[in-house]
Amino acid sequence: MAALEARLTGAGVVLGPLEALPGEPAERARILRTVCGALRGVPLLTHGSGGWDPAWAPDSPVVLTVPPPSPERQAARWLHALDRVTGTGTGMGSGSGDVGELARAVAAHRLDSAQLRRAADVAVRTAALAGRPVGPDDLRAAVRAQNGAGLDRLARRVEPGVGWDDLVLPPATHRRLRELALRARHRDQVLGQWGMRPGGGRGRGVIALFAGESGTGKTMSAEVVAADLGMDLYVVDLSTVVDKYIGETEKNLERIFTEASAVNAVLLFDEADAIFGKRSEVKDARDRHANIESAYLLQRMESFDGIAVLTTNLRANLDEAFTRRLDVVADFPVPDPGQRLALWDRCLGDRLPRADDLDLGFCADRFELAGGSIRSCAVTAAYLAAETGEPLTMRQLITAVAQEYRKLGRLVLQSEFGPHLADALAV
Ligand SMILES: Nc1ncnc2c1ncn2[C@@H]1O[C@H](COP(=O)(O)OP(=O)(O)O)[C@@H](O)[C@H]1O
Ligand SMILES: [Mg+2]
Repeated sequence: MAALEARLTGAGVVLGPLEALPGEPAERARILRTVCGALRGVPLLTHGSGGWDPAWAPDSPVVLTVPPPSPERQAARWLHALDRVTGTGTGMGSGSGDVGELARAVAAHRLDSAQLRRAADVAVRTAALAGRPVGPDDLRAAVRAQNGAGLDRLARRVEPGVGWDDLVLPPATHRRLRELALRARHRDQVLGQWGMRPGGGRGRGVIALFAGESGTGKTMSAEVVAADLGMDLYVVDLSTVVDKYIGETEKNLERIFTEASAVNAVLLFDEADAIFGKRSEVKDARDRHANIESAYLLQRMESFDGIAVLTTNLRANLDEAFTRRLDVVADFPVPDPGQRLALWDRCLGDRLPRADDLDLGFCADRFELAGGSIRSCAVTAAYLAAETGEPLTMRQLITAVAQEYRKLGRLVLQSEFGPHLADALAV
Protein backbone atom coordinates (compact mmCIF):
# COMPACT_ATOMS: atom_id res chain seq x y z
CA MET A 1 0.00 0.00 0.00
CA ALA A 2 2.72 2.45 1.05
CA ALA A 3 4.85 1.23 -1.87
CA LEU A 4 2.07 1.93 -4.34
CA GLU A 5 1.40 5.39 -2.96
CA ALA A 6 5.10 6.23 -2.94
CA ARG A 7 5.47 5.16 -6.53
CA LEU A 8 2.42 7.15 -7.65
CA THR A 9 3.40 10.35 -5.86
CA GLY A 10 7.16 10.01 -6.36
CA ALA A 11 7.72 10.01 -2.60
CA GLY A 12 10.18 8.09 -0.40
CA VAL A 13 9.41 5.81 2.53
CA VAL A 14 10.63 6.09 6.10
CA LEU A 15 10.76 2.80 7.99
CA GLY A 16 11.55 2.57 11.67
CA PRO A 17 12.52 2.28 14.36
CA LEU A 18 14.24 -0.98 13.50
CA GLU A 19 14.15 -2.06 17.17
CA ALA A 20 10.39 -2.48 16.81
CA LEU A 21 10.94 -5.40 14.43
CA PRO A 22 11.01 -8.93 15.90
CA GLY A 23 14.27 -9.64 17.74
CA GLU A 24 14.63 -13.08 16.16
CA PRO A 25 17.24 -12.58 13.36
CA ALA A 26 15.65 -14.88 10.75
CA GLU A 27 12.21 -13.34 11.27
CA ARG A 28 13.63 -9.84 11.09
CA ALA A 29 15.51 -10.64 7.87
CA ARG A 30 12.36 -12.12 6.35
CA ILE A 31 10.30 -8.99 7.02
CA LEU A 32 13.01 -6.65 5.78
CA ARG A 33 13.54 -8.67 2.62
CA THR A 34 9.82 -8.53 1.88
CA VAL A 35 9.67 -4.78 2.52
CA CYS A 36 12.79 -4.03 0.47
CA GLY A 37 11.48 -6.19 -2.36
CA ALA A 38 8.18 -4.36 -2.47
CA LEU A 39 9.91 -1.00 -2.32
CA ARG A 40 12.46 -1.68 -5.05
CA GLY A 41 13.20 1.61 -6.81
CA VAL A 42 11.60 3.76 -4.06
CA PRO A 43 13.98 5.77 -1.84
CA LEU A 44 13.95 4.05 1.55
CA LEU A 45 15.13 5.52 4.84
CA THR A 46 15.33 3.43 8.00
CA HIS A 47 16.28 4.52 11.49
CA GLY A 48 17.13 2.78 14.71
CA SER A 49 19.45 2.83 17.68
CA GLY A 50 21.59 -0.12 16.63
CA GLY A 51 23.67 -0.84 13.53
CA TRP A 52 22.58 -2.48 10.30
CA ASP A 53 23.26 -6.16 9.78
CA PRO A 54 24.12 -6.92 6.11
CA ALA A 55 22.32 -10.26 6.49
CA TRP A 56 18.99 -8.47 6.87
CA ALA A 57 18.46 -7.56 3.21
CA PRO A 58 20.06 -8.06 -0.19
CA ASP A 59 21.03 -4.39 -0.41
CA SER A 60 22.93 -2.60 2.31
CA PRO A 61 22.05 1.00 3.08
CA VAL A 62 24.41 3.94 3.51
CA VAL A 63 24.72 4.32 7.30
CA LEU A 64 24.75 7.76 8.89
CA THR A 65 25.42 8.20 12.60
CA VAL A 66 23.31 10.88 14.26
CA PRO A 67 25.10 12.46 17.25
CA PRO A 68 23.13 12.95 20.47
CA PRO A 69 21.65 16.45 20.78
CA SER A 70 23.70 19.21 22.41
CA PRO A 71 22.32 20.73 25.64
CA GLU A 72 20.98 23.72 23.64
CA ARG A 73 19.37 21.46 21.10
CA GLN A 74 17.89 19.35 23.88
CA ALA A 75 16.42 22.48 25.51
CA ALA A 76 14.97 23.44 22.13
CA ARG A 77 13.38 20.01 21.82
CA TRP A 78 11.76 20.39 25.23
CA LEU A 79 10.53 23.88 24.40
CA HIS A 80 9.01 22.56 21.22
CA ALA A 81 7.40 19.56 22.93
CA LEU A 82 5.99 21.63 25.80
CA ASP A 83 4.69 24.29 23.44
CA ARG A 84 3.03 21.66 21.37
CA VAL A 85 1.04 20.50 24.38
CA THR A 86 0.16 23.89 25.84
CA GLY A 87 -0.31 25.41 22.40
CA THR A 88 1.00 28.77 23.63
CA GLY A 89 4.02 29.06 21.39
CA THR A 90 5.55 31.32 24.02
CA GLY A 91 7.63 28.98 26.10
CA MET A 92 4.69 28.25 28.41
CA GLY A 93 3.81 31.91 28.72
CA SER A 94 6.50 32.58 31.29
CA GLY A 95 9.66 33.15 29.31
CA SER A 96 12.03 30.58 27.88
CA GLY A 97 14.32 30.85 30.91
CA ASP A 98 11.98 28.34 32.54
CA VAL A 99 12.51 25.85 29.78
CA GLY A 100 16.26 26.04 30.30
CA GLU A 101 15.73 25.21 33.95
CA LEU A 102 13.33 22.40 33.10
CA ALA A 103 15.71 20.94 30.53
CA ARG A 104 18.53 21.03 33.07
CA ALA A 105 16.39 19.14 35.58
CA VAL A 106 16.29 16.16 33.22
CA ALA A 107 19.67 16.68 31.56
CA ALA A 108 20.94 13.27 32.64
CA HIS A 109 18.10 11.50 30.84
CA ARG A 110 18.30 10.29 27.29
CA LEU A 111 15.00 10.15 25.43
CA ASP A 112 13.93 9.57 21.86
CA SER A 113 11.51 12.08 20.38
CA ALA A 114 8.41 9.99 21.06
CA GLN A 115 9.37 9.55 24.72
CA LEU A 116 10.15 13.25 24.99
CA ARG A 117 6.76 14.18 23.55
CA ARG A 118 4.95 11.79 25.86
CA ALA A 119 6.87 13.05 28.88
CA ALA A 120 6.08 16.69 28.02
CA ASP A 121 2.44 15.75 27.63
CA VAL A 122 2.27 13.98 31.01
CA ALA A 123 4.12 16.83 32.77
CA VAL A 124 1.84 19.52 31.37
CA ARG A 125 -1.30 17.61 32.27
CA THR A 126 -0.06 16.79 35.78
CA ALA A 127 0.75 20.45 36.41
CA ALA A 128 -2.57 21.59 34.90
CA LEU A 129 -4.44 19.26 37.23
CA ALA A 130 -2.74 20.93 40.18
CA GLY A 131 -3.34 24.35 38.62
CA ARG A 132 0.28 25.47 38.42
CA PRO A 133 2.95 25.92 35.76
CA VAL A 134 5.12 22.94 34.87
CA GLY A 135 7.97 22.59 37.37
CA PRO A 136 11.17 20.53 37.33
CA ASP A 137 9.58 17.86 39.54
CA ASP A 138 6.67 17.38 37.14
CA LEU A 139 9.11 16.83 34.34
CA ARG A 140 11.28 14.46 36.34
CA ALA A 141 8.30 12.33 37.30
CA ALA A 142 7.00 12.32 33.74
CA VAL A 143 10.38 11.34 32.32
CA ARG A 144 10.71 8.54 34.84
CA ALA A 145 7.31 7.21 33.85
CA GLN A 146 8.66 6.64 30.33
CA ASN A 147 10.85 3.80 31.55
CA GLY A 148 9.71 0.49 30.18
CA ALA A 149 9.07 -2.49 32.40
CA GLY A 150 11.78 -4.64 30.80
CA LEU A 151 14.33 -4.12 33.53
CA ASP A 152 11.84 -4.81 36.30
CA ARG A 153 12.16 -8.50 35.65
CA LEU A 154 15.92 -8.44 36.07
CA ALA A 155 16.48 -5.95 38.83
CA ARG A 156 14.67 -4.49 41.81
CA ARG A 157 13.43 -0.97 41.25
CA VAL A 158 13.80 1.53 44.07
CA GLU A 159 12.09 4.89 43.96
CA PRO A 160 14.54 7.04 45.86
CA GLY A 161 13.14 8.46 49.07
CA VAL A 162 16.29 9.98 50.57
CA GLY A 163 18.30 13.13 49.92
CA TRP A 164 21.73 14.62 50.57
CA ASP A 165 20.70 15.80 54.04
CA ASP A 166 20.03 12.23 55.15
CA LEU A 167 23.64 11.18 54.59
CA VAL A 168 26.29 11.34 57.29
CA LEU A 169 29.61 11.11 55.48
CA PRO A 170 33.07 12.67 55.60
CA PRO A 171 33.47 15.64 53.24
CA ALA A 172 35.74 13.70 50.83
CA THR A 173 33.13 10.97 50.28
CA HIS A 174 30.44 13.60 49.87
CA ARG A 175 32.51 15.33 47.20
CA ARG A 176 32.97 12.10 45.26
CA LEU A 177 29.20 11.56 45.26
CA ARG A 178 28.58 15.10 44.04
CA GLU A 179 31.16 14.52 41.34
CA LEU A 180 29.34 11.41 40.23
CA ALA A 181 26.06 13.32 39.92
CA LEU A 182 27.81 16.07 38.00
CA ARG A 183 29.42 13.62 35.59
CA ALA A 184 26.11 11.86 35.02
CA ARG A 185 24.49 15.18 34.16
CA HIS A 186 27.07 16.39 31.70
CA ARG A 187 28.19 13.10 30.18
CA ASP A 188 26.51 13.75 26.83
CA GLN A 189 28.35 16.99 26.39
CA VAL A 190 31.76 15.94 27.70
CA LEU A 191 31.97 12.37 26.44
CA GLY A 192 29.63 12.65 23.48
CA GLN A 193 30.12 16.06 21.94
CA TRP A 194 33.61 16.84 23.10
CA GLY A 195 34.79 13.23 22.67
CA MET A 196 36.64 13.23 25.98
CA ARG A 197 36.35 9.54 26.82
CA PRO A 198 39.86 8.53 27.87
CA GLY A 199 41.27 6.10 25.33
CA GLY A 200 38.71 7.27 22.80
CA GLY A 201 36.16 4.58 23.75
CA ARG A 202 32.64 4.95 22.50
CA GLY A 203 30.55 4.62 25.63
CA ARG A 204 29.00 7.67 27.21
CA GLY A 205 28.36 6.01 30.52
CA VAL A 206 29.65 6.85 33.96
CA ILE A 207 30.88 4.08 36.25
CA ALA A 208 31.43 4.52 39.96
CA LEU A 209 32.72 2.25 42.68
CA PHE A 210 31.60 2.62 46.29
CA ALA A 211 33.97 0.78 48.60
CA GLY A 212 33.55 0.30 52.32
CA GLU A 213 32.49 -2.08 55.05
CA SER A 214 28.96 -3.29 55.35
CA GLY A 215 26.53 -0.71 56.74
CA THR A 216 28.57 2.38 55.87
CA GLY A 217 25.90 3.81 53.59
CA LYS A 218 26.88 2.65 50.10
CA THR A 219 23.47 1.49 48.96
CA MET A 220 21.83 4.53 50.50
CA SER A 221 24.28 6.84 48.72
CA ALA A 222 23.42 5.30 45.36
CA GLU A 223 19.81 6.10 46.15
CA VAL A 224 20.67 9.70 46.99
CA VAL A 225 22.58 10.16 43.73
CA ALA A 226 19.66 8.68 41.78
CA ALA A 227 17.28 11.04 43.58
CA ASP A 228 19.52 13.98 42.73
CA LEU A 229 19.39 13.00 39.06
CA GLY A 230 15.63 12.48 39.22
CA MET A 231 16.04 8.82 38.33
CA ASP A 232 14.97 5.49 39.70
CA LEU A 233 17.53 3.11 41.07
CA TYR A 234 17.65 -0.44 39.73
CA VAL A 235 19.40 -2.82 42.08
CA VAL A 236 20.92 -5.83 40.36
CA ASP A 237 21.50 -8.71 42.72
CA LEU A 238 24.68 -10.24 41.37
CA SER A 239 24.33 -13.41 43.35
CA THR A 240 21.32 -14.29 41.18
CA VAL A 241 23.16 -13.28 38.01
CA VAL A 242 26.29 -15.29 38.61
CA ASP A 243 25.66 -18.78 37.38
CA LYS A 244 27.78 -21.83 37.86
CA TYR A 245 27.31 -22.81 34.25
CA ILE A 246 29.99 -21.47 31.98
CA GLY A 247 28.67 -18.68 29.80
CA GLU A 248 25.34 -18.22 31.60
CA THR A 249 26.58 -15.31 33.71
CA GLU A 250 27.56 -13.39 30.60
CA LYS A 251 24.14 -14.03 29.09
CA ASN A 252 22.38 -12.80 32.22
CA LEU A 253 24.51 -9.68 32.34
CA GLU A 254 23.99 -9.00 28.66
CA ARG A 255 20.23 -9.14 29.19
CA ILE A 256 20.49 -6.61 32.02
CA PHE A 257 22.65 -4.21 30.03
CA THR A 258 20.40 -4.41 27.00
CA GLU A 259 17.31 -3.60 29.04
CA ALA A 260 19.14 -0.96 31.06
CA SER A 261 20.28 0.95 28.00
CA ALA A 262 16.62 1.65 27.22
CA VAL A 263 15.89 2.96 30.72
CA ASN A 264 16.90 6.21 32.35
CA ALA A 265 18.04 4.93 35.68
CA VAL A 266 21.02 4.42 37.91
CA LEU A 267 22.04 0.78 37.75
CA LEU A 268 23.40 -0.54 41.03
CA PHE A 269 25.50 -3.71 41.07
CA ASP A 270 25.24 -4.16 44.79
CA GLU A 271 27.84 -6.30 46.53
CA ALA A 272 29.72 -6.79 43.30
CA ASP A 273 32.26 -8.98 45.13
CA ALA A 274 30.29 -11.97 43.86
CA ILE A 275 32.16 -11.25 40.65
CA PHE A 276 35.18 -9.18 41.57
CA GLY A 277 36.17 -10.86 44.78
CA LYS A 278 37.69 -13.78 42.95
CA ARG A 279 39.60 -11.78 40.41
CA SER A 280 43.08 -11.98 41.80
CA GLU A 281 43.52 -15.56 42.98
CA VAL A 282 43.32 -18.06 40.15
CA LYS A 283 43.47 -21.53 41.65
CA ASP A 284 41.37 -23.70 39.38
CA ALA A 285 39.26 -23.60 36.24
CA ARG A 286 36.37 -22.12 38.19
CA ASP A 287 38.50 -19.14 39.26
CA ARG A 288 39.73 -18.63 35.77
CA HIS A 289 36.15 -18.57 34.65
CA ALA A 290 35.27 -16.00 37.32
CA ASN A 291 38.05 -13.84 35.91
CA ILE A 292 36.52 -14.09 32.47
CA GLU A 293 33.20 -13.02 33.96
CA SER A 294 34.64 -9.95 35.61
CA ALA A 295 36.58 -9.09 32.45
CA TYR A 296 33.36 -9.38 30.51
CA LEU A 297 31.47 -7.19 32.97
CA LEU A 298 34.13 -4.50 32.82
CA GLN A 299 34.31 -4.50 29.08
CA ARG A 300 30.54 -4.48 28.73
CA MET A 301 30.28 -1.63 31.21
CA GLU A 302 32.63 0.43 29.09
CA SER A 303 30.27 0.40 26.16
CA PHE A 304 27.26 1.05 28.40
CA ASP A 305 25.75 4.50 27.97
CA GLY A 306 24.09 4.77 31.34
CA ILE A 307 25.09 5.32 34.94
CA ALA A 308 26.34 2.30 36.85
CA VAL A 309 27.42 2.04 40.47
CA LEU A 310 29.26 -0.96 41.87
CA THR A 311 29.62 -1.57 45.57
CA THR A 312 32.22 -3.71 47.27
CA ASN A 313 33.35 -4.56 50.75
CA LEU A 314 36.81 -5.51 49.53
CA ARG A 315 38.58 -2.60 47.94
CA ALA A 316 41.94 -4.24 48.51
CA ASN A 317 41.17 -7.03 46.09
CA LEU A 318 40.63 -4.81 43.10
CA ASP A 319 43.47 -4.76 40.64
CA GLU A 320 44.70 -1.79 38.73
CA ALA A 321 43.29 -2.91 35.38
CA PHE A 322 39.94 -2.66 37.05
CA THR A 323 40.20 0.65 38.89
CA ARG A 324 41.58 2.29 35.75
CA ARG A 325 38.21 1.83 34.11
CA LEU A 326 36.27 3.56 36.86
CA ASP A 327 35.24 7.20 36.59
CA VAL A 328 34.60 7.79 40.28
CA VAL A 329 35.82 5.86 43.32
CA ALA A 330 34.25 6.77 46.65
CA ASP A 331 35.55 5.32 49.89
CA PHE A 332 33.12 4.80 52.72
CA PRO A 333 35.08 4.74 55.99
CA VAL A 334 33.52 3.55 59.23
CA PRO A 335 32.08 6.59 61.01
CA ASP A 336 34.07 8.46 63.68
CA PRO A 337 32.45 9.38 67.04
CA GLY A 338 31.16 12.70 65.70
CA GLN A 339 29.52 11.03 62.73
CA ARG A 340 28.15 8.28 64.96
CA LEU A 341 26.42 10.90 67.10
CA ALA A 342 24.81 12.39 64.00
CA LEU A 343 23.79 8.89 62.89
CA TRP A 344 22.19 8.08 66.27
CA ASP A 345 20.29 11.31 66.16
CA ARG A 346 19.14 10.83 62.59
CA CYS A 347 18.22 7.18 62.97
CA LEU A 348 16.06 7.87 66.02
CA GLY A 349 14.39 10.71 64.12
CA ASP A 350 12.42 13.58 65.60
CA ARG A 351 9.09 11.84 66.13
CA LEU A 352 10.08 9.11 68.56
CA PRO A 353 9.83 10.68 72.07
CA ARG A 354 13.08 10.48 74.04
CA ALA A 355 13.40 10.19 77.83
CA ASP A 356 15.68 12.66 79.64
CA ASP A 357 18.24 10.02 80.55
CA LEU A 358 18.99 9.19 76.90
CA ASP A 359 22.72 9.76 76.40
CA LEU A 360 23.50 9.55 72.67
CA GLY A 361 26.96 11.02 73.28
CA PHE A 362 27.83 7.96 75.38
CA CYS A 363 26.57 5.60 72.66
CA ALA A 364 28.48 7.46 69.96
CA ASP A 365 31.73 7.49 71.96
CA ARG A 366 31.71 3.93 73.23
CA PHE A 367 30.09 1.79 70.55
CA GLU A 368 32.05 1.47 67.35
CA LEU A 369 29.15 0.71 65.07
CA ALA A 370 28.56 1.60 61.42
CA GLY A 371 25.41 3.39 60.26
CA GLY A 372 23.62 0.18 59.35
CA SER A 373 24.02 -1.21 62.88
CA ILE A 374 23.06 2.09 64.47
CA ARG A 375 19.94 2.02 62.41
CA SER A 376 19.12 -1.53 63.54
CA CYS A 377 19.63 -0.50 67.18
CA ALA A 378 17.35 2.50 66.73
CA VAL A 379 14.59 0.34 65.26
CA THR A 380 14.91 -2.32 67.98
CA ALA A 381 14.86 0.37 70.67
CA ALA A 382 11.82 2.03 69.11
CA TYR A 383 9.88 -1.24 69.41
CA LEU A 384 10.87 -1.54 73.06
CA ALA A 385 9.60 1.99 73.70
CA ALA A 386 6.40 1.35 71.76
CA GLU A 387 5.71 -1.68 73.92
CA THR A 388 5.94 0.36 77.14
CA GLY A 389 4.09 3.36 75.74
CA GLU A 390 6.66 5.68 77.33
CA PRO A 391 9.47 7.80 75.84
CA LEU A 392 12.58 5.85 74.83
CA THR A 393 14.94 5.26 77.79
CA MET A 394 18.69 4.75 77.93
CA ARG A 395 18.11 1.28 79.30
CA GLN A 396 16.09 0.28 76.23
CA LEU A 397 18.74 1.72 73.95
CA ILE A 398 21.46 -0.27 75.76
CA THR A 399 19.34 -3.42 75.42
CA ALA A 400 19.11 -2.78 71.70
CA VAL A 401 22.87 -2.25 71.41
CA ALA A 402 23.59 -5.45 73.36
CA GLN A 403 21.29 -7.36 71.00
CA GLU A 404 23.11 -5.92 68.01
CA TYR A 405 26.44 -6.94 69.58
CA ARG A 406 25.15 -10.50 69.90
CA LYS A 407 24.09 -10.43 66.25
CA LEU A 408 27.53 -9.24 65.19
CA GLY A 409 29.20 -11.85 67.38
CA ARG A 410 30.87 -9.20 69.55
CA LEU A 411 31.54 -9.45 73.26
CA VAL A 412 29.69 -7.23 75.69
CA LEU A 413 32.58 -5.64 77.60
CA GLN A 414 32.84 -3.45 80.66
CA SER A 415 35.22 -1.17 78.77
CA GLU A 416 32.48 -0.29 76.29
CA PHE A 417 29.23 -0.52 78.25
CA GLY A 418 30.68 0.93 81.48
CA PRO A 419 27.93 1.79 83.97
CA HIS A 420 25.35 0.12 81.71
CA LEU A 421 27.06 -3.27 81.72
CA ALA A 422 24.48 -4.92 83.99
CA ASP A 423 21.62 -3.89 81.68
CA ALA A 424 23.54 -5.14 78.68
CA LEU A 425 24.32 -8.51 80.24
CA ALA A 426 20.65 -8.97 81.19
CA VAL A 427 19.72 -9.26 77.51
N1 LIG B 1 26.61 7.22 56.10
C1 LIG B 1 25.33 7.07 56.45
N2 LIG B 1 24.52 8.14 56.57
C2 LIG B 1 23.23 7.97 56.94
N3 LIG B 1 22.66 6.79 57.19
C3 LIG B 1 23.41 5.68 57.08
C4 LIG B 1 24.78 5.77 56.69
N4 LIG B 1 25.29 4.53 56.68
C5 LIG B 1 24.29 3.69 57.00
N5 LIG B 1 23.15 4.38 57.24
C6 LIG B 1 21.88 3.77 57.64
O1 LIG B 1 22.01 2.36 57.58
C7 LIG B 1 21.18 1.78 56.59
C8 LIG B 1 21.93 0.72 55.83
O2 LIG B 1 23.02 1.28 55.09
P1 LIG B 1 23.42 0.80 53.64
O3 LIG B 1 23.38 1.95 52.72
O4 LIG B 1 22.57 -0.37 53.25
O5 LIG B 1 24.90 0.32 53.87
P2 LIG B 1 25.84 -0.52 52.91
O6 LIG B 1 25.18 -0.56 51.56
O7 LIG B 1 27.15 0.22 52.89
O8 LIG B 1 25.97 -1.87 53.54
C9 LIG B 1 20.77 2.94 55.71
O9 LIG B 1 19.51 2.72 55.14
C10 LIG B 1 20.76 4.11 56.69
O10 LIG B 1 19.57 4.14 57.42
MG1 LIG C 1 24.44 -2.27 50.70
